[in-house]
Amino acid sequence: MDLIIDNIEEAIVKTKKQLKQNLPDLKGIFKEVESCIAEEVSIIQTLIADGKEVIPDISYKDIEDEKVNQETIDLIKKRGCVIIRNVFSKYQIDEWNEQLEEYITANGYYEQCQEKDHLDQYFNSLQSSKPQVFGIYWSQPQVKARQDKSMAKAKAWLNNLWVYKQNSNTVFDPTKECSYADRIRRREPGDNTFGLSPHTDAGSIERWIDKGYQKVYRSIFEGKWREYDPFDATYRTEISEIPSPAVSHVFRTFQGWTALTEQGPNDGTLQLIPIVNNIIYILYRALLDDVPEDSLCGALPGRALDTSPEWHALSLKALISIPLLSPGDTVWWHPDITHAVEDTHVGKNYSNVMYIGSSPLCKKNSDYLTLQGERFLKGESAPDFSKEDYEVNFLNRATMDDLSDLGKKQMGFTPW
Ligand SMILES: [Fe+2]
Repeated sequence: MDLIIDNIEEAIVKTKKQLKQNLPDLKGIFKEVESCIAEEVSIIQTLIADGKEVIPDISYKDIEDEKVNQETIDLIKKRGCVIIRNVFSKYQIDEWNEQLEEYITANGYYEQCQEKDHLDQYFNSLQSSKPQVFGIYWSQPQVKARQDKSMAKAKAWLNNLWVYKQNSNTVFDPTKECSYADRIRRREPGDNTFGLSPHTDAGSIERWIDKGYQKVYRSIFEGKWREYDPFDATYRTEISEIPSPAVSHVFRTFQGWTALTEQGPNDGTLQLIPIVNNIIYILYRALLDDVPEDSLCGALPGRALDTSPEWHALSLKALISIPLLSPGDTVWWHPDITHAVEDTHVGKNYSNVMYIGSSPLCKKNSDYLTLQGERFLKGESAPDFSKEDYEVNFLNRATMDDLSDLGKKQMGFTPW
């Protein structure tokens, strides 16, 4: 659902006043949160200094064999992110990576790209210039990867990390997926144009202003932040977003991507602040007295929510690059997690990914499928993204015939 606000500044002033009224001891509370985050930062820095892994790292086979232990699950919930390796074989991924290149070049994407206006303003304040992300949604490899059975199993496992049932209320079905068509990244060696500064998606000022988000963060806004469970899905599917291209209108348990090429630190890859509770720090920080009353630490409507050196220097100390991933490995992060893309790709090879997150079956997501299905049939851009419609006349675009039985259900074309 769209959140329409006529006067943003007025809404921010009013909301902040209300929220602060419920937090008479905000200063004291913030001190506690700050020291908790500082402790996390220090743990992460020590792990890095000792050459140890920070981001939980499991293999797809562990999921298949039900061998992921509770300690690892607890760590994933604390860090808010996880690497799942070998969801696809290298052979399969190499084939898809080549097919994608062929699809893009044979259909003249680069030529068309130059002709089109730059429609996507979402990352305008974040990136230096021309993106290396392609407005491609319906290539055969993407459709096949989304509907793949291993992918479905990995996502069901991830969805199950959430509390999706409270009393008689079921928020989503963790075993059933709504396919969310996203784009691909093909970043060439040497590129320094697609750095993304640290941000969170799924809402910027909405996280304070929207009634749904206020319910998601209810214990934080009541000052009882220790009771906040980032993996409690209650009300998460009830949030509304300010309409803007590239702002997601689905509920994702995890954002994520699948590596199409080998990529590690300095290859222009993903960075994360692996502290799921960092959102508590961000939410309270904006309510402190040194932030102007019409500002939420610079958060802008319809844009990604920045984690900035000006307001969140402490958290930024824990911003780390993900480790080396091989083709077929996947990385996943909670929708509250701050992430970034390295400024420069100093590696030697393309660093390519397919963006595939996890969006389980719920009303919010199945409503989106109705719109998305129409776009798929016409080859148009997915509804959450700029209407560039590159693929309308592309040869070898996936059609209904390419959807498996599972794929048809995930796309909302046939019932579960
Ligand atoms: Fe993002």
